[in-house]
Amino acid sequence: MTDEIIKEIKQLKEDKNAIILAHNYQPKEIQEVADFIGDSLELCLKASEIDDSDIIVFCGVNFMAETAAIICPDKKVLLPDNRANCQMADMVSLEELKQAKEENPDCEVVLYVNSRAETKSEADIVCTSANAAKVVSSLNSDNFIFAPDHNLGVYSAKAAGKDAIIVPEDGHCYVHTMFKPEDIENARREYPDAKIVVHPECNEDIKELADYVESTGGMVRLAKDPEIKQLVIGTEIDLVTRLKRENPDKEFIPLRADAFCLTMKLITLEKIRDALLEEKFLITVDEDIAAKARIGIERMLNLSK
Ligand code: 13P
Ligand code: SF4
Repeated sequence: MTDEIIKEIKQLKEDKNAIILAHNYQPKEIQEVADFIGDSLELCLKASEIDDSDIIVFCGVNFMAETAAIICPDKKVLLPDNRANCQMADMVSLEELKQAKEENPDCEVVLYVNSRAETKSEADIVCTSANAAKVVSSLNSDNFIFAPDHNLGVYSAKAAGKDAIIVPEDGHCYVHTMFKPEDIENARREYPDAKIVVHPECNEDIKELADYVESTGGMVRLAKDPEIKQLVIGTEIDLVTRLKRENPDKEFIPLRADAFCLTMKLITLEKIRDALLEEKFLITVDEDIAAKARIGIERMLNLSK
């Protein structure tokens, strides 16, 4: 059955001149069918380079597909399940952000890519977890507005020696804020020789207790380091799936076995096939909003190339 669907996907991809992009949190069977797997920044960069496909099937959550639609206005961007959202991306409203700008007119605005297109349209620059510190360091102002992830806002401000006004105060990812100091203590006890890497969306105490703090793409690179033999992974569970596929002779241990991003798992092979067949769900962004949001995204991409 699975083999049959994979065959259909391959045929449809060819017929429709489509490419499949997948985030690092997609499950094994989707990683295997994808043309490109990456973190949020790598996926944005990849989308900006695609010139010979008509359709991008985005296996991830809606802010990622929306960002690809903004970067590639001449392509059809399809999200195989239109309920695949990121809870954090909806935690800041346009009104809240506008109010923060009014109250702090001298601050530049940095929007985490995990946000909706309309809030990105109010940003001076966008960032991902891979380049947040670099983006914040590039700002002219010493104080900046950051939305919506509190933990990444604090982390990037500290790294750049600047002050962040974070909107809202409690924006967070429910997956990364699951990790507790006991999880790190248990991992150190059970795997005394292992190194521990966690995502910047984790709470401050977790980042302080870990050996490394990396985006998912940074974790993929770290895993290839010959010095690393055993690595405890403090992010979503399917990043471990990718690391095991690519480094079969090393050991990767999830910091918590229940760190699931549920909406990432809404994407299935059947839904990818149907997305290609029926060209659904087409992700569109209002042209005025897209034009404004593109400025902050391109500013970020230029810093990252
Ligand atoms: P990365 O950009 O590190 O892949 O993170 C994306 C994300 O949604 C983290 O939860
Ligand atoms: Fe959003 Fe968290 Fe899922 Fe990443 S892991 S997509 S931040 S809910």
